[in-house]
Amino acid sequence: MATDETTSNKPQTVPESSISSVLSEKRKFPPPAEFAKNAHVASMADYERLYAEADADPDTYWGGLAEQFHWFKKWESVLEWNSPYAKWFQGGKTNICYNALDVHVNSWRKNKAAIIWEGEEGDQRVLTYGELHRQVCKFANVLKIAGIRPGDRVAIYMGMVPELIIAVLACARVGAVHNVIFAGFSAHAISERVNDSRAKMIICADGSRRRGSSINLKNIVDEAIVNTPSVRSVMVLKLTGDTVHMHDGMDHWWHDLMGLASDECDPVEVDSEHPLFVLYTSGSTGKPKGILHTTAGYMVHAASSFKYVFDIKDEDIYFCTADVGWITGHTYMAYGPLLNGATILMYEGAPNYPQWDRFWDIINRHKVTILYTAPTAIRAFIRAGNEWVTKHNLNSLRLLGSVGEPINPDVWMWYHKVVGQERCPIVDTWWQTETGGIMVSPLPGATPTKPGTATRPLPGIAVDVVHKDGTPCEANEGGYLVIKKPWPSMLRTIYGDNERYEKTYWSEFPGMYFTGDGARKDDDGYIWIMGRVDDVVNVSGHRLGTSEVESALVSYEAVAEAAVVSRPDEIKGNALVAFVTLKDEYVGDMKLREALRNHVAKEIGPIAKPDEIRWAKGLPKTRSGKIMRRLLRELATSNEIKGDVSTLEDFGVLENLRDSEED
Ligand code: PRX
Repeated sequence: MATDETTSNKPQTVPESSISSVLSEKRKFPPPAEFAKNAHVASMADYERLYAEADADPDTYWGGLAEQFHWFKKWESVLEWNSPYAKWFQGGKTNICYNALDVHVNSWRKNKAAIIWEGEEGDQRVLTYGELHRQVCKFANVLKIAGIRPGDRVAIYMGMVPELIIAVLACARVGAVHNVIFAGFSAHAISERVNDSRAKMIICADGSRRRGSSINLKNIVDEAIVNTPSVRSVMVLKLTGDTVHMHDGMDHWWHDLMGLASDECDPVEVDSEHPLFVLYTSGSTGKPKGILHTTAGYMVHAASSFKYVFDIKDEDIYFCTADVGWITGHTYMAYGPLLNGATILMYEGAPNYPQWDRFWDIINRHKVTILYTAPTAIRAFIRAGNEWVTKHNLNSLRLLGSVGEPINPDVWMWYHKVVGQERCPIVDTWWQTETGGIMVSPLPGATPTKPGTATRPLPGIAVDVVHKDGTPCEANEGGYLVIKKPWPSMLRTIYGDNERYEKTYWSEFPGMYFTGDGARKDDDGYIWIMGRVDDVVNVSGHRLGTSEVESALVSYEAVAEAAVVSRPDEIKGNALVAFVTLKDEYVGDMKLREALRNHVAKEIGPIAKPDEIRWAKGLPKTRSGKIMRRLLRELATSNEIKGDVSTLEDFGVLENLRDSEED
């Protein structure tokens, strides 16, 4: 989950009038016949039937999916709903680690690759389900020896190595609650999260490799734990050989304890609602929110959404580029694939290390069949140039996915043509840390796609677009995206703060979960996400989704990336300021500015013309790749930044932007 303003801690305030949505996209791509032939859901008729069945009788639908797992004791009720608090599969006892590993180890999959890992320097490891199980059992015993009991919180702070997944699964095996902290966070951010969850242990590595050098994670943990009284021990994985100081009684080497631990460890049989993990989503102001997910409901939706959205087959090699430090990494790098017995390709490093073709090289060498990545990465690839992609053979790919932000139609088309070679369906998946799993997405063998929309909700998921008073919007009318029925992988609360949970998500539209996103449904019932409502701007009485203006800008030949924010304007209420990064061969001048304004006017309408266009060498982003619009808003308004910049990836970007005012 990103630490940016899209997940701001302040209570959501919904603007008064509705949102104008003006981007109109006519292109439509039916699923290729070849793909549909073997798909789990092979036609729109099948999807419609499933959706109607799940809608009419959610208990039977979700109960049916839950039957497919191993239960030590079967549940008594599918859902107990005391709005806004849900209890799924009450009375049941299970263990998600058992379902992700033991079930496969007891089958022909024992020797199937669970994780194919590639290090940044090109080193490789393959862990079969059998080997992963062995390592997880050993580390689960280490946790027990260190005094970790069911319900205890364990913080994990590591780069993208298999031990991160081993640590996560070992926690789940012993009933401990994992709290993964992205390895790019500062000491302050660690202590804040560790203190909020009162974690008893931190698991880290000596270092983490990034673009050819190494970040000493242990030193950062040392700095953090000066202020974390709840921490009793620190486990340290030796990985990079960075110099570390081991403190007697507190710090332990991973390999020392693993060397002593047995590889047999019975899973703890936990209640369905036993907490599984806390994942922090820090806003730009205030305290980060600890999103709490529990065991059985999360398991059911993580596994089933993965199966249907990615149409997973045993032969697939599935490459998810998200970091396990974010929700995508939890659900679709670790739990979803493993619960399905799939093979995961895990890459340690940066997409442009040593060069811009690293992903494409990996796909070619490992014969990856499914790629799941983010629009921000795709835009960077477009900027770097097609030749990095086309020099590799990508014929193994059969499906592409996108997540995390709206994918601009032109970026979608590039992904479709250059990466997917017009052969691979694209699943644009809308969801949030809070939803635990995908909510709106095409089913690749069934749903005709249109560039820029996540299409329709998954069966069992009741999303809608509503006015401020909660009444449904008409087709093509912009409004607020809400979820009208509970779903199994929903967050249960904000850790330790029920009041904030109720206020943030359930107070704006009584009886409905408010996502914080603006959206519209088109004539086909497809959902078009227009960005967060705080990214929705009122210009001369019209409300515009800034992402639509961004899409229009990015569809112009010279533009690599664009972010649009508003600043107060005496006449119009708000003026639009666009920060635009050009492709390498273009130079920003007045002529290009005018051409861009006219282009936006042509794509959307004169109302959406940016009042100001600033050239940017790069845009300020969080470490998870989200554009920090809050900083851009501050720059656009006052040309200085007073707020918190601790989650910014590259500070140099800000200096360049300060100097980029329109001449
Ligand atoms: O605004 C939506 C955007 O990302 C937000 C959730 O962010 P986070 O909790 O960090 O989770 C990201 C990974 C699931 C949403 O409220 N978002 C996510 N996916 C999409 C999206 N916006 C448009 N299209 C998407 N596919």
